[in-house]
Amino acid sequence: MYNSRIIGLGTYLPDNVITNDYLSKLMDTKDAWIQERTGIKERRWVKPGSDDTTSTMGLKAAKVAIERAGIDKDDIDFIIFATLSPDYYFPGPGVQVQKALGIKTVGALDVRNQCTGFLYALSVADQFIKTGMYKNILVIGSELHSHGLDKTTRGRGVSVIFGDGAGAAILSREEDNSRGILSTHLHSEGEHAEELTVLAPSMGAMRWVTDIIKENDPDDTSYMPYMNGPFVFKNAVVRFSEVIKEGLKANDLGIKDIDMLIPHQANLRISQFIQKKFGLSDDQVFNNIQKYGNTTAASVPIALTEAWELGKIKEGDTVVLAAFGSGFTWGSVVMKW
Ligand code: UT7
Repeated sequence: MYNSRIIGLGTYLPDNVITNDYLSKLMDTKDAWIQERTGIKERRWVKPGSDDTTSTMGLKAAKVAIERAGIDKDDIDFIIFATLSPDYYFPGPGVQVQKALGIKTVGALDVRNQCTGFLYALSVADQFIKTGMYKNILVIGSELHSHGLDKTTRGRGVSVIFGDGAGAAILSREEDNSRGILSTHLHSEGEHAEELTVLAPSMGAMRWVTDIIKENDPDDTSYMPYMNGPFVFKNAVVRFSEVIKEGLKANDLGIKDIDMLIPHQANLRISQFIQKKFGLSDDQVFNNIQKYGNTTAASVPIALTEAWELGKIKEGDTVVLAAFGSGFTWGSVVMKW
């Protein structure tokens, strides 16, 4: 059995900065409300008419990760792409990245686990590498939320939170079993699937795009993201704590062993709650939601990359990734850097 280790990281953030003050011109909201409730100061939204899509942003992040890993694109054995905002209803963006990179016929898998998507993707990649099936796997989390948000007062409980961006990692075979990914723990609770969701267009409810156009109902919000914010918040703080502890326990580690915790950037208040509960210092938790908002499947790889670029993660550090989101889904990854 091998271990797997991240050998390259990359991000892509569109350069179009959207401030809270800008949003207050579109809807009834205030910088003070957004900062107090979420910690977000600004986020990136792709410029309307720009070439950025979920797959092209993922591709740009992937190219940085590949270069930093010091491998060739043809060394990649498998691609895993996590997103809730694919370019097409189908196929998923994994094959688009494969085509754009010019990689011949390796497998490309798309993961639909929202905010926990990158952790699910890492976990799947880890299993493939552990068994010896693959050596280098490209793992991407990318989201383009801004085209699909309700930017009126009606949608303010959701639209002020989400941002666009991408992060990517190259996960590679590691022969030293004390290094790299030590454990992954994944969970879901479908009972709460409708608490954070986009309901349409859907095949299940037989309400496809043509039906929505035909109905042309200005009050229809079924194709906009819906979130029961306070309920999601309450579940998030519980599940974050549980799954971090679960990961640590599986490795005979304690809270004091965490050198760096990278929580999914859902809400600064959630991260701060976990930090306080675990008694972690500011140096042991990394947050960048202030700059980018919640980028769902892209948030963990963007935060991990930025923490690493800032020199906050060093060789031998115990790094814990944790996420919670729509599904509900949640998970943790414990790594020895
Ligand atoms: O990433 C996946 C997981 N997601 C999460 O973990 C998110 C979890 N939830 C949250 O982060 C928070 O629930 C929110 C940030 C979404 C909302 O914060 P909250 O403190 O839970 O506010 P609330 O939904 O209870 O709303 C409080 C008030 C309401 O007004 P009334 O009914 O008290 O008069 C809302 O209408 O704030 C109002 N409100 C806003 N006001 C100004 C909601 N959104 C806004 C807004 N600007 N953008």
